[in-house]
Amino acid sequence: MSTVLVTGAGGEIGHSLLDHFAQQQNTKVIAVDLAQLPPAYAQKVHKVYQADISDPNLISDLESEDISELYHLAALLSTSAEKNPERAHAVNVNGTLGLLTLSRKIGERVGVPVKFLFPSTIAVYGLKSLEQKQQAGAVNEDQYLTPTTMYGINKLYCEQLGGYMSDRYGQLSASASKKNVDFRALRFPGLISATTIPSGGTSDYAPEMIHAAAQGKPYACFVRPDTRIPFMAMPDGVKALVQLAAANADALTKRVYNIGAFAPSAEEIAEMVQGAFPAAQITYEPHMKRQAIVDSWCADVNDSAARKDWGWVPDYDLNKAFNDYLIPIISSVYAG
Ligand code: SER
Repeated sequence: MSTVLVTGAGGEIGHSLLDHFAQQQNTKVIAVDLAQLPPAYAQKVHKVYQADISDPNLISDLESEDISELYHLAALLSTSAEKNPERAHAVNVNGTLGLLTLSRKIGERVGVPVKFLFPSTIAVYGLKSLEQKQQAGAVNEDQYLTPTTMYGINKLYCEQLGGYMSDRYGQLSASASKKNVDFRALRFPGLISATTIPSGGTSDYAPEMIHAAAQGKPYACFVRPDTRIPFMAMPDGVKALVQLAAANADALTKRVYNIGAFAPSAEEIAEMVQGAFPAAQITYEPHMKRQAIVDSWCADVNDSAARKDWGWVPDYDLNKAFNDYLIPIISSVYAG
């Protein structure tokens, strides 16, 4: 029996990850979320802590648990973080430091490094202009790392903090040679789930457009039709996390991997939505600040390292995501 800690368990990725672990006989899940977990999800886990991840009391309560894998999903996303940058820093950075410290202590006590799975983001990229974005095409992990948002800055820093805690913690201290944390990160594109709606992100226009159409509601898209960023269907996001966690450490040449699936423009998404729901009413009312955020994100990612090192291949391209996942499930969700 292994014990897995999931923070942000009530969020979009959290829901799907809890569904995944509920099917694993040998995994005990401890869930953390600021909000109360819906009863159907609370039933799927061994223990729930309703708490703020930046609360030191939570961290000390968790120290006695023999956690072998930690999925740190809790974060304020890009739009929410711009509304309250200090709070975003406290949650996204201090919260992550607390959990990395927790992992280090548990790893030291148990004698096995705690695997720390960290969802990073395409928001770590910062393209200076639409021309540069177009020229850059699919970007590598080490290019254009000049984020413009608090969220992107927080995530980029935490990627580095995770590496530090894994490789160089206390370089001049007695415990320097001990490896207690095994930090692994994925830079997620915008995720689209059939069963949940995101809140506080800037890639939210895609899922919002689809969920609105499925409910027969009009939707005013907050970015221009030509806006292009990478997206992924939620089952692939969960698959990537679980695969990276299971990958042989010797095969990993990086701590942080891009993963891609499809990279449509907002208009291409709208066309797919219109095809599935012909009555959909989609208009465009670009929001200047949110537009600037997505314009600074890359149009696509180069995920060849993930493909080579741990066999990453998405199951869903744009057509398959709509036809085999989003449309059938969303339709049944709203049909009651
Ligand atoms: N989905 C995130 C956001 O929009 C990007 O990682 O903030």
